Amino acid sequence: MDLETFEWLLTAPGQELLRIAAEAYADHDGDPVRAASAVRRTEPDAERAAAALTQVSLRVKGVAKFGPEAVQMYFTPDALEQATRLRVATHRASRLAAYAPSSVVDLGCSIGGDLIAFARAGLTAAGVDLDPVRVAIARANLAALGLPGATMVADATTLDLAPFGVAFADPARRSGRGRTFNVDDWTPPWSFVERLQQGASVVKVAPGIPHDLVAPGVEGEWVSDDGALKEAVLWSGPLATAARRATVIGDGGLASITDEDDPYTGAPRPVSDLGGYLYEPDDAVIRAGLVTAVAAGVDGGLLDEHIAWVTSTSAFRTPFARSYRVLEEVPYREKGLRAALRERGVGVLAIKTRGVDVVPEQLRRRLSLKGDNSATLVLTRIAGQGRALLVEPL
Ligand SMILES: C[S@@+](CC[C@H](N)C(=O)[O-])C[C@H]1O[C@@H](n2cnc3c(N)ncnc32)[C@H](O)[C@@H]1O
Repeated sequence: MDLETFEWLLTAPGQELLRIAAEAYADHDGDPVRAASAVRRTEPDAERAAAALTQVSLRVKGVAKFGPEAVQMYFTPDALEQATRLRVATHRASRLAAYAPSSVVDLGCSIGGDLIAFARAGLTAAGVDLDPVRVAIARANLAALGLPGATMVADATTLDLAPFGVAFADPARRSGRGRTFNVDDWTPPWSFVERLQQGASVVKVAPGIPHDLVAPGVEGEWVSDDGALKEAVLWSGPLATAARRATVIGDGGLASITDEDDPYTGAPRPVSDLGGYLYEPDDAVIRAGLVTAVAAGVDGGLLDEHIAWVTSTSAFRTPFARSYRVLEEVPYREKGLRAALRERGVGVLAIKTRGVDVVPEQLRRRLSLKGDNSATLVLTRIAGQGRALLVEPL
């Protein structure tokens, strides 16, 4: 979609076409071909008709990331894919708002996933992007949601950042050849991130970022939403409040732990014998290197020094890990395991593997399960030995 077509969509006839496209999309259960012919009967301009229908289908898709407000917003397919999901952006914005900066500039705001959250958190926010269509969309999204905020087409790398209290960046991690893992290929590149980190900055990065790229004095925060690891964020200058932090967001709210909650920071990792309970740390905790903080929180230790399973003799509920009661140990070798599961009438088996070279789907097939019972099997390694445990979620 070019800028002219997008700007037309914002006019009264464009809005009417969007309304018709939404109706056609619903009437035809999202079937793009039938919806397109219905829209084309109203709008002979193929580009406008396609742009309206694309918006409607992206709005439907956008609900997963932005909630019901997505149906008022505008997207491009790539920008929707790249945008920060609402709950994660809201957490970032409220953390930033607590610092009460004079303003925040979003350097590469795209369609405004983060910019919207900043504005909604009450921050004075401005967004710039190289792409004029994305800037126009960010502006339209702020307006559609009734939020204030400035937007401008500009190259972030040449912008004077002095007037702004905090700089935020979410560099694009895709090149023409697809997703890139090389930080120097990000746009803007890593050298720009390092420049931002000389002041108060917040930079969203890939969750797989190596710890050695988190400079001393910069906080690395790993964030998961609904159990799925979403991103890492680097907080610099006065915004850094710990070295490493894991933040888990769920329907029940948000919880955060840091290296300061970890009595084992810089100490040998605690290893414990198998207790009656197992804890499976959230991926944000694992990436943040805070599994031992979870172990301390449940009065336990690691089953194996190198594997992210925590065990304890006590039952806890923690937002940072899934809790299981250990029911019994069963043979690790396949023949014995198959017999044990047969004996227990297990027909449905969830398999959790860590530290072992087992593909759950393939193993499940080989076990030829039969029976009315369901079970959860943990396959792991303890001090070099394969172990199999039947557990149940707490
Ligand atoms: C990953 S997207 C940002 C997504 C955004 N945080 C959101 O939630 O919607 C990165 C954006 O940076 C922009 N960008 C890349 N290099 C830039 C530069 N030098 N100056 C301004 N924007 C740039 C891209 O056009 C892209 O829209």
